[in-house]
Amino acid sequence: RTLDDAKDLAGKTALVRVDFNVPMEGGKVTDDTRLRVALPTIQRLRDAGAKVALLAHFDRPKGQRVPSMSLKPVVDDLETLLGAPVRFADDCIGPDAVDAIRELDAGGVVLLENVRFHAAEEANDPVFARKLADLGDLYVNDAFSAAHRAHASTEGIAHHLPAYAGESMRRELDALDAALGNPQKPVIGIVGGAKVSTKLDLLKNLVGKLDRLAIGGGMANTFLYAQGIDIGGSLAERDMADTAREIMAEAEARGCKLLLPVDFVVATEVKPGAAARPVAAGAALSADDKILDAGPATVARLLEALTASKTLIWNGPLGVFEVPPFDAATVTVARHAAALAKASVLTAVGGGGDTVSALNHAGVSDDMTFVSTAGGAFLEWMEGKPLPGVEALRA
Ligand code: 3PG
Repeated sequence: RTLDDAKDLAGKTALVRVDFNVPMEGGKVTDDTRLRVALPTIQRLRDAGAKVALLAHFDRPKGQRVPSMSLKPVVDDLETLLGAPVRFADDCIGPDAVDAIRELDAGGVVLLENVRFHAAEEANDPVFARKLADLGDLYVNDAFSAAHRAHASTEGIAHHLPAYAGESMRRELDALDAALGNPQKPVIGIVGGAKVSTKLDLLKNLVGKLDRLAIGGGMANTFLYAQGIDIGGSLAERDMADTAREIMAEAEARGCKLLLPVDFVVATEVKPGAAARPVAAGAALSADDKILDAGPATVARLLEALTASKTLIWNGPLGVFEVPPFDAATVTVARHAAALAKASVLTAVGGGGDTVSALNHAGVSDDMTFVSTAGGAFLEWMEGKPLPGVEALRA
């Protein structure tokens, strides 16, 4: 159920779960993306005359009231973005919360203190979920990026109130469905990042669903090593070679073409402007050589594969993109994907931690079809796991 199904909101209190787990330094928000994505839901509820009480977590205080993990510093930024006053309540349950909500006018907004200051939040304690629910008339979950957590404010509460997906949640789910649930074929995946071990379930799920799967980043080294290709002193999980071979066999059996690097950029040190050279896969490397990016022939193959695809799902960079020149493959491939998306010939969806920074670094986030704000939730969704926060909205 979405907000289209929520009727007669005037005077009602909407409890809205947002994800304000934003990067902060010295008490200042350094990236307000997650605040911005919450605005359409907040504004829509205000326009309908509802009171809006925002539920959110910040960091991992483990059930303690940790002052440096208060949500209070978010209020100023939110007020500026919203162009309206935002109250703050020192607790997310009890008299502080009740009074703050009671004193709101129709269309007023209050941010309740970090739900994780209560251990009962992460325990998904039904009594705590009931206390949260008692604060309002309806529940709106707009925090896709926290939907992989079965916590009281993301899951338990949905069983006590009429529950709806907010605007940002709906956009995330629509985009993810277009990328993997019900995609236009051929579908290509790009999966990068450091380790195979953290993305095993994801790779296993994807080979059953995609037409092509490109593997990059440090994890590609493990696959190359598993094929007997010299990777010198590169980062790799050499003990995962059997697993890599199993994934290759599974891909072959399921008709998913794996695109592994055919060349790479090698250097002896990871520092900006380091002397780097392209090397074809199979050439001998020395023990000091480290593979730090995909090479030009690999990039050319990826560009071709993208042009031949209708849908792209991307998680993880192709090289050490934080340290130029090892950002070249990620940037070139990202720009090509974004150009195809802009021309409406490719549905290009990316997400998960580093991917967002990599797409921002390439300057293409706005041209992609969709970039998820989620880290862990995006990965779990790519693994094919049901997300408790989403499932609770279907019940
Ligand atoms: C995130 O930043 O990915 C979400 O806010 C979830 O945070 P968590 O990993 O602490 O549950």
